[in-house]
Parts: sequence; C-alpha cells; structure tokens
Amino acid sequence: MGAKPSYRMNNGFRMPLGFPVENFASALAYNAQPGDIFVATYPKSGTTWVQYILYLLLHDGVPLPAGQLLGDSVPHLEEAGGAFVEALTAPRAIKTHFNYELTPHHAEARYITVARNPFDCAVSFYHHTRGFERHYRFSTGTFEDFFECFLAGEVDWGDYFDALASWFAHRDDRNVLFLTYEDMKLESRKAVAEIASFLDFAVAEDEEKLTEIDRHSSFDEMRQSLDRWSSRRPDDMPAFIRKGVVGDWQNHFSADQAHRLIEKFERRAAVSGFGNLWPDVLDAARRMT
Ligand code: PPS
Repeated sequence: MGAKPSYRMNNGFRMPLGFPVENFASALAYNAQPGDIFVATYPKSGTTWVQYILYLLLHDGVPLPAGQLLGDSVPHLEEAGGAFVEALTAPRAIKTHFNYELTPHHAEARYITVARNPFDCAVSFYHHTRGFERHYRFSTGTFEDFFECFLAGEVDWGDYFDALASWFAHRDDRNVLFLTYEDMKLESRKAVAEIASFLDFAVAEDEEKLTEIDRHSSFDEMRQSLDRWSSRRPDDMPAFIRKGVVGDWQNHFSADQAHRLIEKFERRAAVSGFGNLWPDVLDAARRMT
C-alpha cells in the first residue's frame, strides 16, 4: 500500500488541510451576483494563468504590482470564504475549483472554465501535492502513489472526470466559456481575445492591449515574479508556475498507468461526450501502452 496525501474531509469532500473548514461551507453558500466572473476549473488546469489574464483585463493591462498577491484580487472562494468574496468591489473576479453543480450560480454571472488533459493534470497535481507539505503531508510521496489516488478520484476537489463532465455539459451555455489549456498553449493571444470578448470588455477591440496582456500573462513573465501567484509562503510558489508545457506526463507515466488512465477516459467519455478534446495526447498515450 503506497503513501497517500492527507486531506481535510467535509462530508466526503476532500480539501487541503490548510483550508479553513468554515470557508468551505460559506463558499458553497455564497450568493453569486450579476456581473460576477468565475474562473472555475479542476485543480492544475491553468487556473492561475486565466486568473491573471482576467486581472490584467480588469486593470487595463497593468501588471500586478510587486508585493501584491493575485489571490487578493481574484480570491479562491473555498479558501478565502464567501464573506471575503462578497466584500469585493464589483465586478467580482473569483477562482473556484468546484464542479458546475457546486459552483454558485446566477444567470447574469459568467463562468470561464479551463480543462486540461488528464495526463498532464495528474502530473501537475502530483507536484503540487508533494510540494505543499502543510496542506497534504506528502513530501515523500511518489508519482506512483499519487496516480492511484488521482485515478480513484480520491484527491482534493474529487474526481477529475466528474469535474470535466460537469463543465463540458455546459460548454455551450450563454454564460460559460469553455477553454482548454492545450488550445491556450497553442494560441494564447486568441484565448486572451476570447476571454475579453466573452466578458464584453471594450479591450476586445484593442489589438495592442490584447498583445500586451498576452505578453504579461506568458509563462516566462509570470515565472519571473513567482511571489505574486500563490499564498503567502515562499516555498509554496513553484507548484503554481512550474513547467507550463503540454506533454510532461510522458516523463512520469508508465505504460500500465497510461493504459489505465486511457481506459477511464474512454469509459467516462462514452457517457459524457468529451472524447475528442485531446486526440493527440490520447494517441501518444495509446502508443506508449
Ligand atoms: S491551481 O493550484 O489549481 O490553481 O493550479 P493551476 O493554476 O490551475 O495550474 C498550474 C499549472 O498551470 C501552469 N501555468 C501556466 N502554463 C502556461 N502559461 C502560463 N502563463 C501558466 N501559468 C501557470 C503551471 O506551470 C502548472 O502546470 P505544470 O504542468 O505543473 O507546470
């Protein structure tokens, strides 16, 4: 039996140990407001990237000043709690890892969701879980250990495929923008423009500003100011801006792990219809088995 990360349990729902238990309940109870903008993602799917694009769009492309934390402007609902988010000035920009069903809804709120292929997501989530000792007590855990938890859906915020299915089902909703991390990597500026236009921001027409925002939110620029993207401890930082590529999974997965994740992907895709999202990644995984 391998090592397992530790979690704080809330009625069967896993959360990082450091998250205040009362904020989980207040997050679920938060009343979404007209104009709220949610960045709603499964963990490790590109949340911080989109949070920062959103921040830049809301601040005329001016980078977050040194010494400030992105999480204070675009707080994580489950970590900061409903009251903190409620007190933000409108339009509120809010990060959540809740799936569609748990995310607070309002017809006049907007939801930007990012999906990342499960192979890279698992690897990124492993490094995150191993790196945050105070949240998971897993600093000596191996990828093999973590993979078993990921595949079983026994990680914080639950099963990857439940989350993907829940947002994918709403990808055509008027107030949902469904992006993938891989498309963003291919054409990041296009993603910035899509987000601006989804939010009806005038900057959507400003080509120069969009280019500037794309540059400021690039991996390389974000990597240069690690202290701004996370919570308050310097040793927390690498997990949020780590490698930023598609395909790192090939450095971690065994053939057997690839086979088992493909099997679950196909089983869940057959029901939920997301089977065509990452054909190249799935092909590469099949070749490995
Ligand atoms: S979290 O903890 O759930 O909020 O993490 P999240 O931000 O969703 O995901 C972290 C991964 O996103 C990568 N990242 C980026 N990739 C490309 N460009 C930019 N600007 C960018 N910013 C963050 C980050 O490196 C994590 O992926 P991995 O694969 O671990 O590098």
